[in-house]
Amino acid sequence: MLMHKDVEEILVSQEQIASKCQELGKQISADYEGKTPIFISLLKGSIPFCAELVKNIECPMEMDFIDVSSYNGVSSTGKVTIKKDVSSDLTGRHIIFVEDIIDTGLTLSEVIKYYKNKNIASYEIVALIDKPEGRKVEGLNQKYIGFNIPNKFVVGYGLDYNELYRNLPYVGVLKRSVYEK
Ligand code: IMP
Repeated sequence: MLMHKDVEEILVSQEQIASKCQELGKQISADYEGKTPIFISLLKGSIPFCAELVKNIECPMEMDFIDVSSYNGVSSTGKVTIKKDVSSDLTGRHIIFVEDIIDTGLTLSEVIKYYKNKNIASYEIVALIDKPEGRKVEGLNQKYIGFNIPNKFVVGYGLDYNELYRNLPYVGVLKRSVYEK
């Protein structure tokens, strides 16, 4: 696949993502043996990752989706609102939050704060990408991480810049000239 003209470098290829999803899937399946976790995917960015990941889950599982807004352009607004909630009853359930990327950690920490009060049995986080240098919250305890990357703005595999580039089959660094016009 040719690199998109607005991408300066591919950080994680489609092949690397597929093989990482197999690895994570194996680990999660073993950790949740005998349980039926519910994967709560954060719309819209985590959809391609979630779709690839769940193909590798071997224990019984369910899926649900939430929509949370926190970003506008390339920097975090720090304000998190839940625009769409789950449709399942989460009482007594083992939750796995599926996220495309963790940067400041504000989104997931707010989401977790909200769902922790719903009498859930447990929760963990699985994220395709982590940018640890961007972290502004402590104690997120993200258990399952695909790839650690430097603090650069990336697009592709669900990740967007103003809703574009989600369809790219890899994760790549967006050229600065695109958002510094
Ligand atoms: P956090 O709250 O700062 O951890 O950011 C989480 C959300 O910000 C992700 O779900 C993404 O929607 C968005 N985000 C953070 N970094 C990037 C990036 O490099 N590219 C695209 N979206 C990003």
